[in-house]
Amino acid sequence: MTTEAGSAETSSARERIYIFDTTLRDGEQCPGASMTFEEKLEVAELLEEMGVDIIEAGFPIASQGDFESVLEIARRAGDVTIAGLARAIPADIARAGEAVKPARRGRIHTFVSTSPIHLAHQMKKSESEVLEIIARTVAQARNLVEDVEWSAMDATRTPVEYLVRCVDTAIRAGATTINLPDTVGYAVPEEYAAMFREVRERVADSDKAIFSVHCHDDLGLAVANSLAGIAGGARQVECTINGLGERAGNAALEEVVMAIRTRGDVMPYETRVETRMLTRASKLVSNVSAFPVQYNKAIVGRNAFAHESGIHQDGMLKNASTYEIMTPETVGVKATSLVMGKHSGRHAFREKLKELGYELGDNQLEDAFKRFKDLADRKKHVYDEDIEALVGDEVAVAAE
Ligand code: KIV
Ligand code: ZN
Repeated sequence: MTTEAGSAETSSARERIYIFDTTLRDGEQCPGASMTFEEKLEVAELLEEMGVDIIEAGFPIASQGDFESVLEIARRAGDVTIAGLARAIPADIARAGEAVKPARRGRIHTFVSTSPIHLAHQMKKSESEVLEIIARTVAQARNLVEDVEWSAMDATRTPVEYLVRCVDTAIRAGATTINLPDTVGYAVPEEYAAMFREVRERVADSDKAIFSVHCHDDLGLAVANSLAGIAGGARQVECTINGLGERAGNAALEEVVMAIRTRGDVMPYETRVETRMLTRASKLVSNVSAFPVQYNKAIVGRNAFAHESGIHQDGMLKNASTYEIMTPETVGVKATSLVMGKHSGRHAFREKLKELGYELGDNQLEDAFKRFKDLADRKKHVYDEDIEALVGDEVAVAAE
């Protein structure tokens, strides 16, 4: 099997997946992750430059600050679509419409719960009342903008019979995107894919709308579910940088995009995201949201392209494809790092010495390697300076 097969293929054979970034809305709902006005503008600018298709810039009715940031992002936007979220309430929809109005491409994203649990305990409404709400609010939004997304909140815990009726109502009322979120991160991939297949098959005019996935990570399945939703016919993925979001977060944009790119051999899709900007985007969002990225986070974690084991380092020095399925450059990382530690072997040690400007003879190298291993057993991090200090004496003696 070759790696990065997808990137080698011609794009014409691939179906487009639209990337809907909700870092500034669902991401910001993550406790403690709020961003200032300027920070939001900076993130939006980077997302547009990176090639995201839709930016959900906020929830305009939530606060004056949210309204103003969505409005300003809409004013500055180029070709990217700017979405504002609205509950199925006329005042919310009007406010979202006002906020996205300056955008060249503005979208109102309105949602309502559809699951029996939400209808009984939160909405206190019957199924037919919710159907009426959908028809009324989607039509209201459609009077304000051409581009209307409707979401069935808690879709994955909604009986499919009723979900089909809801989706049918939303499309008839003018929705152009239908989002079926896994709001509580409850679905498993096979059933999420099946839900999309069934709904798309049973709704008469399903091809009038683009179907969308929106997955939360409560069971650690958000990215797997998003890809399964695509297999079931969805063509828009809602996600956030670093997987920021409510509770365990949303599907991570960088993981979805790189999975599609790296496994193009089994997934005939493409996105327009410039993957070399992923690391920069991750760092920016981590800084402004004050949310650190875990070291072993896929794609953008500090260790994503770091190797310590001697066997892996030896393989990497011979050919990078032995232990890397993507090149670090593809995601904007300069180079792989071979971390020197107690698991490192002679091969990596010799290369590290060369990099630091030392050429040791075989006996000297053996000696230095033993001392390096002793040091690594005692010390968690072995830095270049430690290695220099370690071999300094050997070299000095040899030079005399
Ligand atoms: O998780 C969810 O259901 C949402 C909706 C507002 C789309 O974030
Ligand atoms: Zn969500």
